[in-house]
Amino acid sequence: MDPLSDEKIVDSWGKNAAPWIAAIREEQVESRKLCTNQAIVEAVLSCAPRTVLDLGCGEGWLSRALTAHGLQVTGIDVVPALVEEAQRTGGGPFLVLSYEDLADGKWEDTVDAIVCNFSLLGKESVEGLVQAASKLLNPQGRFIVQTPHPVWACGDLPYRDGWRKGSWAGFGGDFTDPAPWYFRTLASWIHLFLTNDFHLRDLREPIHPEHEKPASVIFIAERREDASQSL
Ligand SMILES: C[S@@+](CC[C@H](N)C(=O)[O-])C[C@H]1O[C@@H](n2cnc3c(N)ncnc32)[C@H](O)[C@@H]1O
Repeated sequence: MDPLSDEKIVDSWGKNAAPWIAAIREEQVESRKLCTNQAIVEAVLSCAPRTVLDLGCGEGWLSRALTAHGLQVTGIDVVPALVEEAQRTGGGPFLVLSYEDLADGKWEDTVDAIVCNFSLLGKESVEGLVQAASKLLNPQGRFIVQTPHPVWACGDLPYRDGWRKGSWAGFGGDFTDPAPWYFRTLASWIHLFLTNDFHLRDLREPIHPEHEKPASVIFIAERREDASQSL
């Protein structure tokens, strides 16, 4: 398997389901606890959707948080162990499907909003999903994406799109075989939405309360009126 590929991302998340569930339960990721969890919940609520698709939902914390606000949420993830944990914990429904499955039309419903919280990690899988996303949305539907802020996440490497090796730095000891990820500049993210049936409605930069740098970026894109609805 190519170590820098969409296939490797899925393989790695499959191997790390158990430590990931523990990390979320124990709030091991400080930036999530202090900043980004609240930011994504507020971003979704600001769009006032009735129905939401939580894509790459992991063990389901965001689906549960949005359900608690009265929204009707469906969670989808490619890793069966994460979906089983989400089902066990409540909220949902939760389904095992990949972004490739969604792009292939295997989920036939439509929703008012799609949310992806740190779950758009790959190259072709993400491009295919964004291309298909408008067909999963009702008119004026929103596509809400939180991802590491490119200016910060770039580190010392050149600021240009490309595959990066993964790392579990900052996590507990049980993680193994980190997933690679595909780095996109801020301009590339925006281009991805604008070339796939979306307007960009808002761009938020949640600030970490301690170091006062952006902890992430949140894109709120709106389905264009002229977006095709045929699958
Ligand atoms: C960093 S976790 C985020 C989980 C969750 N959104 C959260 O906020 O805790 C990334 C998630 O994306 C999922 N994922 C990655 N590639 C995927 C794909 N091609 N199809 C479906 N899910 C995918 C992984 O299984 C994992 O649960």
